[in-house]
Amino acid sequence: MTDLTIAIAKGRLQAETLDLLASAGLGFSSETLSSRRLAIEDESGRYRLIFVKPADVPVYVEHGIADCGIVGRDILLEYDADLLQPLSLNIGVCRIVVAAKNDVRLNQLGMLRVATKYPRIAARHFGERGVAVDMIELSGSVELAAVLGLADCIVDLVETGKTLEENGLSIIEVINESAARLVVNRASYQLKAEAVAQFIRYLDDTLRRRASGD
Ligand code: PRP
Repeated sequence: MTDLTIAIAKGRLQAETLDLLASAGLGFSSETLSSRRLAIEDESGRYRLIFVKPADVPVYVEHGIADCGIVGRDILLEYDADLLQPLSLNIGVCRIVVAAKNDVRLNQLGMLRVATKYPRIAARHFGERGVAVDMIELSGSVELAAVLGLADCIVDLVETGKTLEENGLSIIEVINESAARLVVNRASYQLKAEAVAQFIRYLDDTLRRRASGD
């Protein structure tokens, strides 16, 4: 019987997350890690990891299928789940920005066409500024929408800035800073208090060691 089930976001955050967990003392054989299994246990048998799409991490944790999850703040801002967020993890550091073609000045008098994977973040951002928006929801390669004229601008993540640069786009405004966070189910936080507190401590110690360069 494992102590905790932890939902891990598949994709760009996955490698950094597994690296952080390894530094925090969770051991996984290379065979386990290279397998296509969607649920694995660490060598101590205390932790079970489940691998899900980033947007599904809050869903599994909120429903208590996973006790904890590791997911970007972008997803938490977009999906607004009822979760505890005890730690920011200093991995998956990026920004959520408004970007458009180089040298384009956005005409905010008419309806602004905005393409994004983050319709709620974008709606909140432009709503606060009183800008009327025609929201075009996409599931990836959002930059293309600005390049090809499907939208006047995009709201998307920027990590290194390479995708924007190589597609002739630039940042107009930063909406939020983002990094991965540890999220915890409210009931697990009470019912598995000891296991959750220990897991938080392992991560926290690792973050401190990393910050001090050890
Ligand atoms: C993300 C994001 C940008 C890109 C930014 O996309 O949506 O497209 O990474 O990274 P950069 O600033 O380091 O170039 P992702 O790779 O997750 O794929 P997607 O386009 O399918 O969403």
